[in-house]
Amino acid sequence: MPEIFHRKLERSAIGFVIAIIAAASVGGIVEIAPLFTIDETVEEAPDMRMYTPLELAGRNIYVREGCYACHSQMIRTLRDEVERYGPYSLAVESKYDRPMLWGSKRTGPDLARVGGKYSDFWHVAHLTNPRDVVPESNMPAYRWLARTSLKMEDLPLHLAAQKALGVPYTDEMVENAARDAYGQAMPDTDFAAGLIARYGDETQVSAFDGVTTDVTEMDALVAYLQILGRLTGAAYKNTAAPEGKPDPEG
Ligand code: HEC
Repeated sequence: MPEIFHRKLERSAIGFVIAIIAAASVGGIVEIAPLFTIDETVEEAPDMRMYTPLELAGRNIYVREGCYACHSQMIRTLRDEVERYGPYSLAVESKYDRPMLWGSKRTGPDLARVGGKYSDFWHVAHLTNPRDVVPESNMPAYRWLARTSLKMEDLPLHLAAQKALGVPYTDEMVENAARDAYGQAMPDTDFAAGLIARYGDETQVSAFDGVTTDVTEMDALVAYLQILGRLTGAAYKNTAAPEGKPDPEG
C-alpha cells in the first residue's frame, strides 16, 4: 500500500514538488521558530562590555590565522567540561562576537575562558614557540606576530563594520579606534587614559608583548586572548560556579 502511494506521488510532478517543499520546511521551522523567543532565551548581562579596538584587531588575527580550526570557544553543559574549563558558556557571552567563533573541533583546548589563566609573557612565549612552554605541544609557532606592526589605519573601519552589525560602539569610539589601540599597549600614556574612559576601569592596559616601542600583532592577539571569558561576569551568577569572575588585573 505505501509503495503504491509513493509511486503515484512520484509520477505527479506538482504533487511531488509540494511534498518536497513540505518536507524541507519542517527543517526550516525547526531552525527559525526558536529565533522568535530570542528575547526570553538570551540571558541579561548589564555589565557586558564590547571588545576594545586592540582586542578586536586580535580577534581578526585569530580568524586570519585559523586558530578556530583547532580551538573551540564554547564550554558545554557537561560536568567534565565545567570542571576543566569553568562555568559553561552562555549565549549572551557571544553577543558581540561577529562572526561567532564557537567552533566544533578541539585539537587544542577550549579557549572560551582562557583570559587571565596565564600571564601575557606566557602567551608571547607560547605563540612564539609552543614547545618552549609545553614540550609535547603540536600547535604551530606564530613567531612573526611579534615582528609585525599592527595595521592601525583601518581600525575605525573595523569598528564601524561591527557597529553596522549592531554592536553599540559610539561615534567617539569609532573615531578614536587607532588611538585607543595604541593606548591599550602603552600603559601610563594619555592614550591609555582615553581608552579607560571609553571602555571602563576593568580594561586591561599592558605592554602585552613586553615592548612599548611599537604596537604589534602579538600585542593585539594577546590582548584578545586575555579578555576571553571576561567581558561579563554573567556566567558566574546563578550557575553554581565554584569561583568568581577572574580579576582582570591578574
Ligand atoms: C594545529 C592545531 C592548532 C592551531 C592551528 C592552534 N593551536 Fe593553540 N593549541 C593547540 C594544542 C594541541 C594545544 C595544547 C598544547 C599547548 O598548550 O601548546 C594548544 C594550546 C593553546 C593555548 C593554551 C590553552 C590552555 O588552556 O592551556 C592557547 C592560548 C592557544 N593554543 C592559542 C592559540 C592561538 C591564538 C592560535 C592561533 C594563532 C592557535 N592556538 C592555533 C593546537 C593548535
